[in-house]
Amino acid sequence: MSVLSNVRRFVFPVIAVAAAGTVGAMLLGAADDERAAKFDNKGALIRPEGYRKWVFIGCPVTPNDMNNGKAAFPEFHHVYIDPKSFAHYEKTGQFPEGTVIVKELANVAAKESPSGAGYFPGDFVLLAVAVKSAKRFPNEPGNWGYFNFGEYPNYAETAEALPTDSCNGCHQAGAQQDYVFTQFYPVLRAAHQGRPAEHPEHHHHGEHGEHHGGEKQ
Ligand code: HEC
Repeated sequence: MSVLSNVRRFVFPVIAVAAAGTVGAMLLGAADDERAAKFDNKGALIRPEGYRKWVFIGCPVTPNDMNNGKAAFPEFHHVYIDPKSFAHYEKTGQFPEGTVIVKELANVAAKESPSGAGYFPGDFVLLAVAVKSAKRFPNEPGNWGYFNFGEYPNYAETAEALPTDSCNGCHQAGAQQDYVFTQFYPVLRAAHQGRPAEHPEHHHHGEHGEHHGGEKQ
Protein backbone atom coordinates (compact mmCIF):
# COMPACT_ATOMS: atom_id res chain seq x y z
CA MET A 1 0.00 0.00 0.00
CA SER A 2 1.37 3.36 -1.01
CA VAL A 3 1.97 6.17 1.39
CA LEU A 4 -0.51 8.19 -0.62
CA SER A 5 -3.41 5.81 -0.19
CA ASN A 6 -2.65 5.61 3.51
CA VAL A 7 -2.84 9.32 3.65
CA ARG A 8 -6.09 9.21 1.70
CA ARG A 9 -7.62 6.63 3.97
CA PHE A 10 -6.77 8.77 6.93
CA VAL A 11 -7.56 12.15 5.46
CA PHE A 12 -10.94 11.51 3.85
CA PRO A 13 -12.84 10.46 6.97
CA VAL A 14 -11.31 13.43 8.78
CA ILE A 15 -12.52 15.75 6.06
CA ALA A 16 -15.96 14.13 6.11
CA VAL A 17 -16.22 14.59 9.88
CA ALA A 18 -14.88 18.12 9.66
CA ALA A 19 -17.34 18.93 6.87
CA ALA A 20 -20.26 17.54 8.86
CA GLY A 21 -19.10 19.62 11.81
CA THR A 22 -18.89 22.72 9.66
CA VAL A 23 -22.41 22.26 8.31
CA GLY A 24 -23.65 21.78 11.87
CA ALA A 25 -21.82 24.88 13.02
CA MET A 26 -23.20 26.85 10.07
CA LEU A 27 -26.75 25.80 10.91
CA LEU A 28 -26.27 26.64 14.57
CA GLY A 29 -24.55 29.88 13.62
CA ALA A 30 -27.39 30.86 11.31
CA ALA A 31 -29.94 30.30 14.04
CA ASP A 32 -27.72 32.01 16.55
CA ASP A 33 -26.88 35.25 14.78
CA GLU A 34 -30.29 35.60 13.21
CA ARG A 35 -30.98 38.31 15.73
CA ALA A 36 -28.54 40.84 17.14
CA ALA A 37 -31.11 41.21 19.93
CA LYS A 38 -31.04 38.68 22.74
CA PHE A 39 -33.75 38.51 25.37
CA ASP A 40 -33.66 36.94 28.82
CA ASN A 41 -36.30 34.44 29.85
CA LYS A 42 -38.50 37.23 31.27
CA GLY A 43 -38.54 38.94 27.88
CA ALA A 44 -36.20 41.80 28.82
CA LEU A 45 -33.63 42.85 26.22
CA ILE A 46 -30.05 41.98 27.13
CA ARG A 47 -27.76 44.95 26.50
CA PRO A 48 -26.31 44.39 22.99
CA GLU A 49 -22.59 43.66 22.91
CA GLY A 50 -20.10 45.15 20.53
CA TYR A 51 -22.50 47.71 19.06
CA ARG A 52 -19.70 50.29 18.75
CA LYS A 53 -18.29 48.02 16.03
CA TRP A 54 -21.60 47.90 14.13
CA VAL A 55 -22.39 50.13 11.16
CA PHE A 56 -22.41 53.78 12.23
CA ILE A 57 -25.29 55.47 10.41
CA GLY A 58 -25.30 59.00 11.73
CA CYS A 59 -24.89 61.48 14.55
CA PRO A 60 -27.70 63.97 15.13
CA VAL A 61 -26.76 66.64 17.68
CA THR A 62 -29.12 68.42 20.06
CA PRO A 63 -26.86 70.66 22.14
CA ASN A 64 -28.19 71.70 25.55
CA ASP A 65 -27.40 75.33 24.78
CA MET A 66 -29.77 75.29 21.79
CA ASN A 67 -32.52 73.63 23.87
CA ASN A 68 -33.10 75.91 26.84
CA GLY A 69 -30.17 74.39 28.71
CA LYS A 70 -31.40 70.80 28.62
CA ALA A 71 -32.09 68.87 25.43
CA ALA A 72 -34.62 66.04 25.64
CA PHE A 73 -31.84 63.71 24.48
CA PRO A 74 -28.48 65.35 25.25
CA GLU A 75 -26.42 65.93 23.12
CA PHE A 76 -24.58 63.90 20.41
CA HIS A 77 -26.57 60.87 19.26
CA HIS A 78 -24.32 58.15 17.86
CA VAL A 79 -26.55 55.77 15.92
CA TYR A 80 -25.59 52.22 14.90
CA ILE A 81 -27.37 49.37 13.14
CA ASP A 82 -26.43 45.68 13.40
CA PRO A 83 -24.38 44.62 10.33
CA LYS A 84 -26.76 41.91 9.17
CA SER A 85 -29.72 44.28 9.05
CA PHE A 86 -27.55 46.89 7.34
CA ALA A 87 -26.75 44.38 4.59
CA HIS A 88 -30.44 43.66 4.21
CA TYR A 89 -31.21 47.38 4.05
CA GLU A 90 -28.55 47.88 1.39
CA LYS A 91 -30.29 45.31 -0.77
CA THR A 92 -33.94 46.06 -0.12
CA GLY A 93 -34.25 49.48 1.51
CA GLN A 94 -36.24 47.82 4.33
CA PHE A 95 -35.52 47.05 7.96
CA PRO A 96 -35.81 43.27 8.40
CA GLU A 97 -37.30 41.33 11.30
CA GLY A 98 -34.70 41.40 14.07
CA THR A 99 -33.23 44.81 13.22
CA VAL A 100 -31.44 46.43 16.16
CA ILE A 101 -30.68 50.16 16.15
CA VAL A 102 -28.63 51.59 19.00
CA LYS A 103 -28.48 55.26 19.93
CA GLU A 104 -25.70 56.14 22.34
CA LEU A 105 -25.56 59.70 23.57
CA ALA A 106 -22.44 61.72 24.36
CA ASN A 107 -22.20 65.16 25.92
CA VAL A 108 -20.63 68.30 24.52
CA ALA A 109 -17.22 68.74 26.13
CA ALA A 110 -16.02 71.84 24.29
CA LYS A 111 -17.22 74.45 21.86
CA GLU A 112 -13.85 75.32 20.47
CA SER A 113 -10.98 73.29 19.17
CA PRO A 114 -8.03 73.91 16.85
CA SER A 115 -10.45 73.16 13.98
CA GLY A 116 -12.69 76.05 14.93
CA ALA A 117 -15.87 76.85 16.84
CA GLY A 118 -18.35 73.99 17.13
CA TYR A 119 -19.53 71.16 19.31
CA PHE A 120 -16.99 68.55 20.37
CA PRO A 121 -18.00 65.34 22.13
CA GLY A 122 -16.89 64.33 25.61
CA ASP A 123 -18.19 61.31 27.50
CA PHE A 124 -21.02 58.94 26.83
CA VAL A 125 -24.28 59.80 28.60
CA LEU A 126 -27.03 57.30 27.85
CA LEU A 127 -27.92 54.20 25.84
CA ALA A 128 -31.24 53.68 24.01
CA VAL A 129 -32.13 50.80 21.69
CA ALA A 130 -34.90 49.95 19.22
CA VAL A 131 -35.62 46.37 18.12
CA LYS A 132 -37.98 45.36 15.30
CA SER A 133 -39.63 42.05 16.05
CA ALA A 134 -43.07 40.92 14.96
CA LYS A 135 -42.61 37.91 17.21
CA ARG A 136 -41.87 39.94 20.36
CA PHE A 137 -43.90 43.09 19.63
CA PRO A 138 -46.87 42.01 17.52
CA ASN A 139 -48.99 44.93 18.75
CA GLU A 140 -46.45 47.75 18.61
CA PRO A 141 -46.57 50.09 15.62
CA GLY A 142 -44.10 48.72 13.06
CA ASN A 143 -43.31 45.95 15.55
CA TRP A 144 -40.67 48.19 17.15
CA GLY A 145 -39.82 47.78 20.83
CA TYR A 146 -37.92 50.62 22.57
CA PHE A 147 -35.49 50.30 25.47
CA ASN A 148 -33.53 52.58 27.75
CA PHE A 149 -30.41 51.15 29.41
CA GLY A 150 -29.85 54.21 31.60
CA GLU A 151 -26.79 56.31 32.22
CA TYR A 152 -23.17 55.76 31.36
CA PRO A 153 -21.07 54.19 32.83
CA ASN A 154 -23.69 52.23 34.76
CA TYR A 155 -25.72 50.86 31.88
CA ALA A 156 -28.22 48.24 32.97
CA GLU A 157 -27.61 44.61 31.99
CA THR A 158 -31.19 44.27 30.75
CA ALA A 159 -34.08 46.59 29.94
CA GLU A 160 -37.85 46.13 29.65
CA ALA A 161 -39.72 47.35 26.58
CA LEU A 162 -41.09 50.85 27.20
CA PRO A 163 -44.76 51.80 26.72
CA THR A 164 -45.74 52.76 23.17
CA ASP A 165 -46.51 56.36 24.14
CA SER A 166 -43.16 57.09 25.76
CA CYS A 167 -41.12 56.41 22.63
CA ASN A 168 -42.96 55.13 19.59
CA GLY A 169 -45.50 57.96 19.49
CA CYS A 170 -42.88 60.57 18.68
CA HIS A 171 -41.17 58.31 16.15
CA GLN A 172 -44.51 57.70 14.50
CA ALA A 173 -45.08 61.43 14.18
CA GLY A 174 -41.73 62.40 12.67
CA ALA A 175 -39.73 59.49 11.33
CA GLN A 176 -39.39 59.19 7.58
CA GLN A 177 -39.38 55.42 7.19
CA ASP A 178 -40.78 52.64 9.33
CA TYR A 179 -40.50 54.70 12.56
CA VAL A 180 -36.79 55.30 11.92
CA PHE A 181 -35.51 58.83 11.28
CA THR A 182 -33.82 57.87 8.01
CA GLN A 183 -33.92 61.54 6.99
CA PHE A 184 -31.03 62.02 9.46
CA TYR A 185 -28.98 58.98 8.44
CA PRO A 186 -27.04 59.68 5.23
CA VAL A 187 -25.24 56.35 5.52
CA LEU A 188 -28.52 54.43 5.23
CA ARG A 189 -29.83 56.50 2.33
CA ALA A 190 -26.57 56.17 0.43
CA ALA A 191 -26.43 52.44 1.10
CA HIS A 192 -29.72 51.78 -0.61
CA GLN A 193 -29.24 53.30 -4.03
CA GLY A 194 -32.29 54.90 -5.46
CA ARG A 195 -33.74 56.06 -2.17
CA PRO A 196 -33.88 59.83 -2.47
CA ALA A 197 -31.89 61.91 -0.01
CA GLU A 198 -34.61 63.99 1.52
CA HIS A 199 -34.61 66.76 4.05
CA PRO A 200 -37.44 67.03 6.55
CA GLU A 201 -38.35 70.54 5.40
CA HIS A 202 -38.90 69.12 1.92
CA HIS A 203 -41.04 66.33 3.21
CA HIS A 204 -44.57 67.25 2.28
CA HIS A 205 -47.01 64.44 1.85
CA GLY A 206 -48.54 64.22 -1.57
CA GLU A 207 -46.27 66.69 -3.29
CA HIS A 208 -43.68 64.17 -4.35
CA GLY A 209 -46.09 61.28 -4.40
CA GLU A 210 -44.44 59.00 -6.93
CA HIS A 211 -40.94 60.03 -6.08
CA HIS A 212 -41.25 59.09 -2.42
CA GLY A 213 -43.86 56.40 -2.74
CA GLY A 214 -43.80 53.65 -0.15
CA GLU A 215 -41.46 55.35 2.27
CA LYS A 216 -43.81 55.37 5.22
CA GLN A 217 -44.58 51.79 6.01
C1 HEC B 1 -39.79 63.84 21.33
C2 HEC B 1 -39.68 62.85 20.29
C3 HEC B 1 -39.00 61.52 20.64
C4 HEC B 1 -39.26 60.68 21.68
C5 HEC B 1 -40.29 60.84 22.78
C6 HEC B 1 -38.35 59.56 21.53
N1 HEC B 1 -37.57 59.72 20.43
FE1 HEC B 1 -36.14 58.41 19.75
N2 HEC B 1 -35.66 59.71 18.30
C7 HEC B 1 -36.28 60.94 18.05
C8 HEC B 1 -35.61 61.60 16.94
C9 HEC B 1 -36.00 62.96 16.34
C10 HEC B 1 -34.59 60.73 16.51
C11 HEC B 1 -33.60 60.95 15.38
C12 HEC B 1 -32.81 62.21 15.56
C13 HEC B 1 -32.12 62.32 16.87
O1 HEC B 1 -31.40 61.39 17.27
O2 HEC B 1 -32.33 63.33 17.54
C14 HEC B 1 -34.67 59.54 17.39
C15 HEC B 1 -33.86 58.44 17.24
C16 HEC B 1 -33.92 57.32 18.03
C17 HEC B 1 -33.16 56.12 17.81
C18 HEC B 1 -32.27 55.85 16.62
C19 HEC B 1 -33.08 55.13 15.51
C20 HEC B 1 -34.19 55.96 14.92
O3 HEC B 1 -35.36 55.55 15.08
O4 HEC B 1 -33.95 57.02 14.28
C21 HEC B 1 -33.43 55.29 18.84
C22 HEC B 1 -32.87 53.89 19.05
C23 HEC B 1 -34.39 55.95 19.69
N3 HEC B 1 -34.67 57.19 19.17
C24 HEC B 1 -34.90 55.42 20.85
C25 HEC B 1 -35.87 56.05 21.62
C26 HEC B 1 -36.36 55.54 22.87
C27 HEC B 1 -35.87 54.27 23.56
C28 HEC B 1 -37.31 56.42 23.31
C29 HEC B 1 -38.15 56.33 24.56
C30 HEC B 1 -37.42 56.36 25.81
C31 HEC B 1 -37.41 57.47 22.32
N4 HEC B 1 -36.52 57.23 21.32
C32 HEC B 1 -38.29 58.53 22.41
C33 HEC B 1 -37.35 61.46 18.72
C34 HEC B 1 -37.92 60.91 19.86
